[in-house]
Amino acid sequence: MDRIRLRGGRPLDGSIAIGGAKNAALPLMAASLLTPQTLTLGNVPHLADIATMAHLLQQHGVDVSMDGGNGTPEGRTIHLNAGTITSTVAPYDLVRKMRASVLVLGPLLARFGEAEVSLPGGCAIGTRPVDLHIMGLKALGAEIAVEGGYIKATAKKGLKGAVIRFPMVSVGATENLLMAAALAEGTTVLENAAREPEITDLCDCLIAMGAEIEGVGSEHITVHGKPSLQGARHQIVPDRIETGTYAAAVAICGGRVELTGTRIDLIESVVDKLREAGCSVDETPRGMTIARNGSRLRGVDFLTQPYPGFPTDMQAQAMVLMTVADGAAMITETIFENRFMHVPELARMGANIVVHGSSALVRGVPKLTGAPVMATDLRASVSLVLAGLAAEGETTVNRVYHLDRGYERLEEKLAACGAVIERLKD
Ligand code: UD1
Repeated sequence: MDRIRLRGGRPLDGSIAIGGAKNAALPLMAASLLTPQTLTLGNVPHLADIATMAHLLQQHGVDVSMDGGNGTPEGRTIHLNAGTITSTVAPYDLVRKMRASVLVLGPLLARFGEAEVSLPGGCAIGTRPVDLHIMGLKALGAEIAVEGGYIKATAKKGLKGAVIRFPMVSVGATENLLMAAALAEGTTVLENAAREPEITDLCDCLIAMGAEIEGVGSEHITVHGKPSLQGARHQIVPDRIETGTYAAAVAICGGRVELTGTRIDLIESVVDKLREAGCSVDETPRGMTIARNGSRLRGVDFLTQPYPGFPTDMQAQAMVLMTVADGAAMITETIFENRFMHVPELARMGANIVVHGSSALVRGVPKLTGAPVMATDLRASVSLVLAGLAAEGETTVNRVYHLDRGYERLEEKLAACGAVIERLKD
């Protein structure tokens, strides 16, 4: 298994290209199941999770092709054609690799009247059930049984529009229901829907495919179902978490970096906090710049919330920032119940963190010290890379495959800005 080795203490200077959002690409790829015509997606990031979704779709019979090889600039455009579906079963060995596989449930059921999707099972950051997905699809008239570890769903006469009020905000459930409602008979209203930019991106693509959707970007979305949808071309929204992660890296290391191919309006809650902590952030024609020159980082509090609140996917990175800030910071996680697994590893690097339930009190220390570390999920792994950048001495981050699920060429992007970082191949 590859490892990342790095030495901290260098400011970052230069520019970093931000890719398309993984969390937008995954539902968009699943949306290809809604039409027999070709869906073409541009700005596709080269990530392990994208390959897993492509594999899952191929297994259903979807024809997946790229304009160039994976890793080439042309390879950012992907064509998906679900003209012939050979299986409506999403098997355990693929779903267990990536929870977002459950996003094929809504589209398969809506178009073919049946779908069997393995339950994703446990996950490092909490139990993460799929009850809201099931509740919503049942409200649209699906019959659903959970048997032998599989969600077995049928809707022999098709799905029918309904009013669905989510008791809590779920990104994945909103996406599954949007896709299902697009092919349901009549009107569906989603109340307390998620408002993440990736949801807006999915709505925009569904509209390009012929769907009729009102209230895009709001918590109250109305979908007027259509008997069929058509092919479309769609450009994937920039990755706001990749953007925020590199912004946090600059905040930690100091220096000045332009993040290109992204949009500041996607991460306003993150930008507000970075400014409060002592960084300057400015919009540019190509994206944004983030700088911290000379000034010390200040402790600020963070509370994760559904969009437009501070993203849970930035919580671990924010915590690293606070480990080396002046003063104390309270970091409260409200989305996932077990998302502080990075804390013991950060403590091994000299961080002063006390966890009480869903809150972590971080008291800033003058510096961290390098150590061999490892993490159990994507954002925790990247937070350890950031900690390594803040640390004196050498840090080795093990289990890099977590990083490869969500960050494309992370070590190259940071090295190009002056970080001392390399991948060790095993
Ligand atoms: C998505 C993102 C993930 C991000 C998360 C929250 C993708 C591929 N992943 O995950 O990176 O961290 O949003 O912004 O887009 N819940 C239930 N029942 C359900 C569904 C969810 O109780 O049926 C709970 C979850 O356990 C969690 C909360 O709702 O506590 C939010 O989860 P959700 O928004 O669904 O996250 P994902 O869509 O899985």
